[in-house]
Formats: sequence, structure tokens, C-alpha cells
Amino acid sequence: MAPDGITTARAALPFAPSGIVTPTVPPDIVTPAILLDFAIVDANIRRMQAHATAAGVDLRPHVKTHKSVKVGRQQVAAGSTGITAGTLGEVEVFAEAGFDDIFFAYPVFATRARAERLRAVREVARLRVGLDSPVAADALAAAFSGGAPLEVVIEVDCGAGRCGVPPAEAGALAAHARSRGLLPAGAYTYPGHGDRDAAAPAEASEDELAALATAANAMRAEGIEPVILSGGSTPTSSRSARAPLTELRPGEYVYNDLGKLRVGACEPADLAFFVAATVVSDAVAGQVIVDVGTKALGREGSDQRGYGTAPDVPGAVLTKLNEYHGYLAVPEDVARPRVGDILVIAPNHVCPVVNLFDEMVVHEAGRPVGRWPVDARGHLS
Ligand SMILES: Cc1ncc(COP(=O)(O)O)c(C=O)c1O
Repeated sequence: MAPDGITTARAALPFAPSGIVTPTVPPDIVTPAILLDFAIVDANIRRMQAHATAAGVDLRPHVKTHKSVKVGRQQVAAGSTGITAGTLGEVEVFAEAGFDDIFFAYPVFATRARAERLRAVREVARLRVGLDSPVAADALAAAFSGGAPLEVVIEVDCGAGRCGVPPAEAGALAAHARSRGLLPAGAYTYPGHGDRDAAAPAEASEDELAALATAANAMRAEGIEPVILSGGSTPTSSRSARAPLTELRPGEYVYNDLGKLRVGACEPADLAFFVAATVVSDAVAGQVIVDVGTKALGREGSDQRGYGTAPDVPGAVLTKLNEYHGYLAVPEDVARPRVGDILVIAPNHVCPVVNLFDEMVVHEAGRPVGRWPVDARGHLS
């Protein structure tokens, strides 16, 4: 009989969707390893770009999802205006690789060392940074005093409750930034609450458009015309590509994952990113152990919701993770994989997984392409 934990987790059966197309596993693969299907990546990039272009808004993908110069170049080649980054390290990696239009969408606090690095990036690329407090504005102003004014984008909260001033206060903060010699270019918001469930993207999209409209009016009331009104996570991008928004910043659409599938932000066939894992134990009934734990998959999920699936084993769900062990619960009526089998795992959330690997094993519709580095892996500070 399966241990209690597994039985309980299976009873609340998490998310094991059908229709996910898993990639061919190279025979010489050493697991755990990222498997990336670049044909699907390319299709995801083209689809989002076509959507933005048709709607007349700019697309500025967030590179935190892939941290890959090659994938970023594909996004720019498809027509994106530039890129969005979430850490100064990411900004530097991409600036060094030749990306010349970067939005550092984070409420940056410019300490001395960070200020020097920001100035160095600004020498080689157009740089805009996020701002959500007067004190951060003062630090940025001091860091860039004497040079060309730094462009800042005011972060406003549209309901995610993470960062950002209330939209109506965007004008006051922009005016403060301007008084310190910064150049307020507009406002941005992150509708993180659009990830909650299938109904959330539509509500979060309305919230972000309303927040950007309020922020724009507040800036205009201070005599500042916003040239950028930026929003759009992967779940909200399909609905938010309209006025007053001028720029979308989705990240995860490039690979997709179970989380995006759960909220209806992609189709099963749009998943491009998987982790290859070896079955290392079948000693306990009702499950097998695979060699991916928290150090390969992160900890996104819960015992009830699961930590990922093995789409080729119908109904199988990772119900628990230790550091190097993944507990894959297999339904009773499904044949358990054997020790030594290599399984393809679909993760809940791709971004943390990307950051745990040095490279990706890339193929294109079954044809091996090679190993690509995860260039900005780490680079957190
Ligand atoms: C500031 C910011 N912009 C854009 C995104 C991209 O959203 P998504 O990951 O849903 O594509 C994120 C994601 O965390 C973010 O934090």
C-alpha cells in the first residue's frame, strides 16, 4: 500500500493535463537536464510578437524566464522593442551581449557599487529603470548627477500587492524624480494576481489597464507626458494589448509551464521546456523516485497541487520533493516506469528551474541542435 502522504496527495489530485507533447530524449543524456524544443520556443515568440504588432503595442519580453542570449536574440529578431530584466546581473549579461535597449523593471536602490555598474551599462545601452519611492529616486539622482538624466519608469500597484505606489500617486513620485534631475518616462505595473486561477487573468488585465490610465492622468496633472505605459504578464497579455497600455512585458510565454496551462494562458502543445529525469527507485509501492528534487525543480507547488508531472505517464504527479529526490505518484491502473527509465518532467514554473542549470539540451522538432548556456544563470546581484 502506498504511504499515507501519497494516497492523500493523490486524492486531492493535482494537475496532470493531457495533450502535452514531450520531446525526444537524446540517448546519451545525463540527467537531470533541461530539454528545450526550439521549434516551440520560436512559435511562441512569433505568436506573441504577432499579437503585439497587430494590436499596435511594443513587446519587451522579460528575460528572467530564459536568461539566454540566444533566445533573447530570437525575440529581438522577431520584432521586440528591447528586453526587460529583473536583476542588475541580467542587465549586464544582456548589455554585454549587445542588447541595446533594456528596461530594468525593478525598484532599484542605487548603492555606490550598483550605481557604478548602472552607469557602465548606460554607456553601452539605452537603460530605463523602475522607481517606486522618493528615497530610491534620490539615490539614482545622486548616481547619475552630472551626466545625461537617467530615464525612470514609475512602478504602480494594480492589485498584486508587491511593489508600486498607488496609481494616483504616480504623478507626485514622477514630479519628485524630475525635481532631482531624473527623466520620468512613464509608468509600469505587474499584474501578478493574474496567476491565481483561470478567472484571474481577465480581472488582472482590467486592473492593470485601469492602473495605467490613472497613473498616466496623475503624471499629466504634473505636466509630465508618459511615453511608456507598460504592463502585461503572460496571463494578461492576450487581453491587455490595448490603450492606454503601450508596451507588453511577458516573460514565461517563451517556454510556458503547468502554471500557465492551469490559468489558460497557453495550450498543452505550447510547452517548450522540460526536465529529463531518471527513475532511480521503485522500492515503494504506488510511486517511483526520480532524480529531480528541489535542487533541480525549485519548490514551486504544494503537496496538494503537486510539483510537476510526467506527461508520458498518464495521471502521474510529483507529489513531494526532497533535495535530490522527486516522489512521482503513479495511478494504480497505470504501469509504473522502471528503474533506469528516463522520464520527461513538465515543471510547474519554468523560471526558477532555468536558474538552477548551467545549460540546456536543445533540439528543434526532434533534430538535435546542441547545448546552449543559460547565460545569466545566477547573476542575482
Ligand atoms: C516586473 C515584471 N514584469 C514582467 C513579468 C513577466 O510576467 P510573466 O512571468 O507572467 O510572463 C514579471 C514576472 O515576474 C515581472 O516581475
